[in-house]
Amino acid sequence: MNFTYYGHSCFAVDVGGRALLFDPFITHNPLAGGVDVNAVRADYILVSHGHEDHLGDAVAVAKRTGATVVSNYEVATWLGRKGAPKTHGLNHGGACAFDFGRVKFVNAIHSSSLPDGSYGGNPGGFVVESAQGNFYYCGDTALTMDMKLIGESTRLRFAALCVGGNYTMDAADAAKAAGFIGCNEIVGVHYDTFPPIKINQEEAIKIFQAAGKTLHLLKIGASREF
Ligand code: NI
Ligand code: MN
Repeated sequence: MNFTYYGHSCFAVDVGGRALLFDPFITHNPLAGGVDVNAVRADYILVSHGHEDHLGDAVAVAKRTGATVVSNYEVATWLGRKGAPKTHGLNHGGACAFDFGRVKFVNAIHSSSLPDGSYGGNPGGFVVESAQGNFYYCGDTALTMDMKLIGESTRLRFAALCVGGNYTMDAADAAKAAGFIGCNEIVGVHYDTFPPIKINQEEAIKIFQAAGKTLHLLKIGASREF
């Protein structure tokens, strides 16, 4: 599975020939000026919660590509009203089989108001299972014991975990999360974009090393294979 990082918590994973785009926040990301949002591929757009730094470009990319937006019921419905042509709402613990594999919406501890103040349901993360392998994206979340359930039921090739602190887990909590989910290959997200989530990257990588895990902090626009 090819993974491409677009900054903040936005990344794409190629699964069985389908492009899965997560939390597209590119246009207003001060660090993502080098990414052409009009060139980003998407067959599915997975949105973890209603905050602007996660759904920023979702409607525009969905309109351009015809991609199906997958999120919690409230966010999916809201994005549909804003013009996303195809949406699929999930809720916690629920899963749906798509043409590339199965997506389960799992718990996150955070908040989820929409940009206009509408109720955004509860935030989540995604476990994607496919013939090419499985992975987990935690969304914005605190460290939670619920992550152990993911490690018990799914063998993960990699996981994208927030490491920026302040609004979410920091690197120390994310390294613990990597243990809970039983995964050694972690891609860090939700760091450096804004002053409160600036991290010391070398320090974060060392924290993971000490836990026997690998933290990948990719340059914006960079790809790697998992
Ligand atoms: Ni958030
Ligand atoms: Mn966020």
